Amino acid sequence: MDEDRRIAAVEEVPEDGTLLFTIRDGFDREEAILVRLADGVAAWKNYCQHWTDVRLDKGSGAAVREGDILCQKHGATFQKDSGYCDFGPCEGSYLDEVAIVVEDGVVYLAEEDYEFDGLGPSGDHDLSSRGRIDFTGT
Ligand code: FES
Repeated sequence: MDEDRRIAAVEEVPEDGTLLFTIRDGFDREEAILVRLADGVAAWKNYCQHWTDVRLDKGSGAAVREGDILCQKHGATFQKDSGYCDFGPCEGSYLDEVAIVVEDGVVYLAEEDYEFDGLGPSGDHDLSSRGRIDFTGT
């Protein structure tokens, strides 16, 4: 696999959180997250299906509760392996998948239309969900 598409080693992906990275299509950047599964990893676009301007991982890992990715805005939970929302206001929806491959313990981006931009946030947005107040007051 092309080293330019290397995202991270599987063992760098936390079991109780997510690893944020950025992909690029021309000048457009999007964030995605890697999650650790019992038998590998999965990757999802970094936004909730309820309000798509709400990021799941704001830079230090999304919350993971009982094996589900938790949106801290209104409490939706998404299964790590399928992206299926099994609770919350967007129940029944799915996170948008990002294609990856794992070779020799290393995760590579397999999305043909995107290039790997780097680990961490895209820097294209500021403070997530500014202007919208959730029940924690943030
Ligand atoms: S924005 Fe994620 S549950 Fe509402």
